[in-house]
Amino acid sequence: MKLKIALLPGDGIGPEVIQQAVKVLNAIAEKYTHTFEYSKGLVGDVAIKEFNNPLPEETLKICADADAILFGAIGDPKYDNNPNAEVRPEQGLLQLRKKLGLFANIRPVHTYTSLLHKSNLKEHVIDGADLVIYRELTGGIYFGERKLSDDKLSAVDTCNYSVEEIDRIAILAFEAAKLRRKKLTLVDKSNVLETSKLWRTRVAEISKQFPSVKLNFLYADNAAMQLILKPTQFDIILTENMIGDILSDEASVISGSIGLLASASIGKHTALFEPIHGSYPTAKGKNIANPLAAILSAAMLLDHFELYDEAENIRLAVEKSIDLNITTPDLNTTNHFSTTNVGNFISDFILDDDNTFYNK
Ligand code: IPM
Ligand code: MN
Repeated sequence: MKLKIALLPGDGIGPEVIQQAVKVLNAIAEKYTHTFEYSKGLVGDVAIKEFNNPLPEETLKICADADAILFGAIGDPKYDNNPNAEVRPEQGLLQLRKKLGLFANIRPVHTYTSLLHKSNLKEHVIDGADLVIYRELTGGIYFGERKLSDDKLSAVDTCNYSVEEIDRIAILAFEAAKLRRKKLTLVDKSNVLETSKLWRTRVAEISKQFPSVKLNFLYADNAAMQLILKPTQFDIILTENMIGDILSDEASVISGSIGLLASASIGKHTALFEPIHGSYPTAKGKNIANPLAAILSAAMLLDHFELYDEAENIRLAVEKSIDLNITTPDLNTTNHFSTTNVGNFISDFILDDDNTFYNK
C-alpha cells in the first residue's frame, strides 16, 4: 500500500518521539513492502516563531494532501506564565481538529503485565483493565463562545452541543462496543448541565439501535473515582470534550505512564494520530522522552488503513520492549534506555523476522 503521511512533530519532545515513530513505520514498510511518503509541517510554537501563526496555511495544505497525519506534541512553558497571550501553540491543534472535522478522539487504555507491579495503583485493582475512551473533540466548551468582560473582572466560556454532534460520535462508540465487551458508559454531569441532559437523551435513543450493547450512565465526578477504584468495570467510555480530556490523563495511570497512551482522531476528512501527552519541555533534547505513545499512534494509523498485521507487529514489539525493560525513565528507574534506544529496539525487532536475536 502507498500512503502519504503528514508529519507534524510540533513542540518540545514532539520531534524526538515522531522520529522514532517514523523509524518504526519505515521498518514496517520494508518488512511488508509498503511505501510511506512523508511531508513535514510546522505547528504550535515552532510555527508561531516562523509565521506568527500556530497553524500556517502551508501546514493545512500538507495535511489536506495527505492520507493521514501523525502529530507529536504541542505547547511551550513561555505561554503558561502569560495566560493573556493572543496567540498560543494549542490553538494550532484545536484549529486543526476543527478544520479537519476530527470529531471523535479514540484513546485506548490497557495494562501491560510486566508493568502491573510498578503502578502507583494496586496490582489487583488494575489487572485486566481494558477500556477505550471516545472523547468528542470538536464541540463543547473548547469551541464555545468565550469572552473577557471589558473591565476584565469577569469571563465567560460557553458549552454547546447539537444533536448532530452527539449522534455521530455516539454511533461510532456503540459500533466499537458491539465489537468489544458490549458495554458503553456515558459520562456526563446531567445532574447539573443542560448539554449533559441532551447527551443522555440522545445516547439513550441511539442505544435502541444497538440492543446487544449494555448502556449505563455515570456522573463525571463519580467516573473519575470509579476509574481508579475499579477500572475493570469499563469497556467503552463515551464523553464530551473536556471531561474526556481530564479522564484520559487520569486513565493513563492505569497503563503505567502517560508516555504509553496513543490516540486516533477521526472524522470527516483526513484522520490524525497523536500521543495524548504534552510537549514535556523539561525533557526536550535530552533523549529521555518515551516514544511508545507516538509509536503506538503509528500503529493506530495502520489499523485505520486495515493494515492489521502490521499494527499488531508494532504492538508486539512494544510489548517486548516493555517486557525486557528496554524503556525510558518514566517506566524504568534503573538501567533506563534513551528515546532512540527504544525506537531502535522496536524497529530492529520488527525487521528481525524470527525475532531470533531478542528471543535468545
Ligand atoms: C490533549 C491536549 C489538548 C487538549 C491541548 C494541548 C489543547 O491536552 O490532546 O489531550 O486539551 O485537547
Ligand atoms: Mn489532554
